[in-house]
Amino acid sequence: MTTPHKPLVLSGMQPTNTLHLGNYLGALKNWVKMQEQMPCLFCVVDMHAITAEAGYGKPEELARATREVAAAYIAGGVDVNRTPIFNQGQVPEHAELSWVFNCVARLGWMDRMTQFKEKSGKHKERASVGLYTYPVLMAADILVYRATHVPVGEDQKQHLELARDIAQKFNNDFGVPDFFPQPEPVIMGTATRVMSLRDGTKKMSKSDESDASRINLTDTAETIADKIRRAKTDPLPLPSSKDELAGRPEAENLLSIYAALSDQTLEATIAEFSGQQFSGFKGKFAELTVAKLEPMAKEMRRLLADPGEIDRILKSGAQKARAIATPVMDEVKKRVGFIS
Ligand code: TRP
Repeated sequence: MTTPHKPLVLSGMQPTNTLHLGNYLGALKNWVKMQEQMPCLFCVVDMHAITAEAGYGKPEELARATREVAAAYIAGGVDVNRTPIFNQGQVPEHAELSWVFNCVARLGWMDRMTQFKEKSGKHKERASVGLYTYPVLMAADILVYRATHVPVGEDQKQHLELARDIAQKFNNDFGVPDFFPQPEPVIMGTATRVMSLRDGTKKMSKSDESDASRINLTDTAETIADKIRRAKTDPLPLPSSKDELAGRPEAENLLSIYAALSDQTLEATIAEFSGQQFSGFKGKFAELTVAKLEPMAKEMRRLLADPGEIDRILKSGAQKARAIATPVMDEVKKRVGFIS
């Protein structure tokens, strides 16, 4: 099916805690590449951050984390002259469309969302209503710009299916075929699934209790080297083929990260270190990680030292975003029957 919609990429990250290597290699690095191929918009989803305890009732921490994510976007290579970056809370159309979508989405659809079940845990009745409608807000984030491509991780695929269902039902119920596009998930083949340095079977995560499990984008060179020295390994020498990685999650994780940071294939990295001991590999690994992350960390520190500059960039990004969102929202209001 051909759609009348121009290609547009939209993605976002939540400002909760600190960003780590997984956020960079799994998402940001690929977003930066996408800018070359299509127009993009990248937001910091501060409205999503208040749906759960981590971001709720902590205004200073939320603002700090929002600026930190924006700083990472910039330091990681997003060209703000070409690609608007902004925080969601500064573009009221997200919330407006989200309300209309709350009335489009069906309870039965929402009840299927597995991430809500995971996040709300045993005590669903204590979760915020916002956490429940989180995927509806995400649909609004995307569709308020009529974005067509959404780079996300596997865990967000279900939310994107919901966005497609909402788009289709809106188009159908209000008699406007093709008004909203069917946004496609872009699951990046080149993205790296970065696992914990303490346990190769768990995802590197900002919520892991042990800071040694992750490399934060703002870690100093000494901290990075220390965390890598202490990273869990196994007693065997490094493998000489991909097959030999079976059952060796730590070896696989370290080699995959190395491959991603050096922009080479996993096969090439395996060949480079085939049969060697972890100790020698870790030395090179630390050097490479520091060399890649240090310039980014430095730029992030520089930006964060002057929040005024980041705030100006977010404001100007929000203006550009609104220029796209306002006409869409005007049309939605008209179609729904809101007098304006
Ligand atoms: N839910 C996404 C995540 O946790 C973040 C997000 C919010 C998002 N709105 C979005 C991602 C819109 C892509 C598009 O990763």
